[in-house]
Amino acid sequence: MVPMTVKLPKPNLQEFPLERAFTFVESGPVILVSTSHKRQKNLMTLSWHTLMDFEPTLGLTLGPWNHSYTALLETGECVMAVPPASLLTKVIDIGNCSGSQVDKFKKFGLTAQKASLVKAPLVADCLKNLECRVVEHHKDRNFFILEGLKAWHNPTAPDQRTFHAVGDGIFIIDGETIDLKRRMTKWQHCI
Ligand SMILES: Cc1cc2nc3c(=O)[nH]c(=O)nc-3n(C[C@H](O)[C@H](O)[C@H](O)COP(=O)(O)O)c2cc1C
Repeated sequence: MVPMTVKLPKPNLQEFPLERAFTFVESGPVILVSTSHKRQKNLMTLSWHTLMDFEPTLGLTLGPWNHSYTALLETGECVMAVPPASLLTKVIDIGNCSGSQVDKFKKFGLTAQKASLVKAPLVADCLKNLECRVVEHHKDRNFFILEGLKAWHNPTAPDQRTFHAVGDGIFIIDGETIDLKRRMTKWQHCI
């Protein structure tokens, strides 16, 4: 349980390596990016993503060494899927092999489901799926900007916990959920 009033501890800010500073905000859920290219569907694991603007617009940092990079570039489409904590080890393994060598849906026993608006398949085993199209590609920064086209979720999945990368192969699984809607007085229209 998170206490509502806390005695603040003595400040103890220490310098941190700038090149590791991405880990400060890396902890959005680890996602799977699903693509379909030349009739081959594929998955990759991705933790470097960010919300942009107030529309469903998202940014992905995705390097050209990934098989998924060419698929995303050439088709301009993908599905971003949020896996449950129960898939943690599979998701890590998916991020440690290449679709140029294996059929990851088959190898990891995941269910590809036809999407509505893109050729990339939904990942039916995931909690959330967002069909997306690429609206910008910044080659110099390995950065793709995606527009969300259609969203799906599975509110009855038994494990609703997601997981988060904090760098160096360490992950955090969601813990306690706290409902503070009544304190969101300024944001009632959003909830
Ligand atoms: C936890 C985790 C997070 C990852 N995050 C990213 C990322 O943000 N961007 C990226 O380009 N690769 C990331 N990767 C690496 C890709 O998932 C990996 O290179 C994968 O093998 C690519 O698959 P593909 O060649 O079939 O596209 C991550 C891997 C893991 C295990």
